[in-house]
Amino acid sequence: MKTAPSETPLPDKAFDVSLRPPAFSEFQGQEKVRARLELMVSAAKGRGDTLEHILLCGPPGLGKTTLAHILSNAMGVNIRNTSGPMIEKAGDLAGLLTTLDRGDILFIDEIHRLQPAIEEYLYPAMEDFRLDIIIDQGPNARSVRLNLPKFTLVGATTRAGMLSAPLRSRFGMVSRLDYYPADELASIVLRSAGLLDLQLDHPSAMEIATRSRGTPRIANNLLRWVRDYAQVRAKGIVTPELANAALTMLEIDRDGIDEMDRRILETLIHKFGGGPVGIQSLAVAVGEEGGTLEEVHEPFLIMQGYLKRTPQGRVALGKAYFKLGLTPPAGRSEQPELF
Ligand SMILES: Nc1ncnc2c1ncn2[C@@H]1O[C@H](COP(=O)(O)OP(=O)(O)OP(=O)(O)O)[C@@H](O)[C@H]1O
Ligand SMILES: [Mg+2]
Repeated sequence: MKTAPSETPLPDKAFDVSLRPPAFSEFQGQEKVRARLELMVSAAKGRGDTLEHILLCGPPGLGKTTLAHILSNAMGVNIRNTSGPMIEKAGDLAGLLTTLDRGDILFIDEIHRLQPAIEEYLYPAMEDFRLDIIIDQGPNARSVRLNLPKFTLVGATTRAGMLSAPLRSRFGMVSRLDYYPADELASIVLRSAGLLDLQLDHPSAMEIATRSRGTPRIANNLLRWVRDYAQVRAKGIVTPELANAALTMLEIDRDGIDEMDRRILETLIHKFGGGPVGIQSLAVAVGEEGGTLEEVHEPFLIMQGYLKRTPQGRVALGKAYFKLGLTPPAGRSEQPELF
């Protein structure tokens, strides 16, 4: 499981589940991805067929798991949830696949973390709906073929680049989720507030939305924090000023930069002269794991133009210096580069 940036409150399971939109009609934003998936569902249903295998990519908390569940609701099929690291042996995979009925969805989260040997078993399962597994060892070892029902694999990954090409090519549809603009996040916050019976106006929702790093999960977490803050400090009444005060207490600024982001930028500029520096050295210096830095913090900082990736390492851009109240050195590019 991915965690939200360090200083946001931890998700509360019951809260999180109840806020998860159950249908396409309640899933806000990601217009293109949603339209494609809805079309696939109506086509499959119209033919009485099963869904193609679908791969959902994108940073944590943007709605991959949510979409997998929406797909199963829309198709009226069961969904089995697992994740790449949980499938250790071919037998684990066989156990999952043989319990499916025709049309059911097998959802593999963090599919980039599947072992290569398991991937090999998955190929014929995805293509021909069969699984050849070896049972017993030594002289008794023999291969057994299991015929599988025509199922749908929905894979989710935060690291599309780490997926092997043969696995990726076996998905009929690959869709990428992007960070949400603030107005869409504000609609998500308003919907969640409604489900929580919390009165919230649009400007207050925008206060939360602009600090949520384009991520619905963070928006919902911050909303929960604002609700608690309002309950203790203001008899439950949320105003934009109160939302601002609540979020300032979490040390998240109006650009959505939290304490960890700030530490990354400070380290990059003060310890490494603005870079270039390798991700591992940067990770050690800020006391975080390299993978977490790459998956959770860096995409947002890159998208917002605070830093860029170069073949030599990470480099601070002009905006990072301004954020820390510094003047960028001459020659430091101020134009964020697309990644
Ligand atoms: N488009 C959306 N509309 C409304 N709520 C959303 C939307 N996308 C996500 N959410 C909310 O954000 C939460 C996080 O979404 P989800 O768990 O699907 O993310 P994820 O992409 O699977 O993340 P991870 O990579 O960490 O597994 C959900 O519980 C849901 O409440
Ligand atoms: Mg998920």
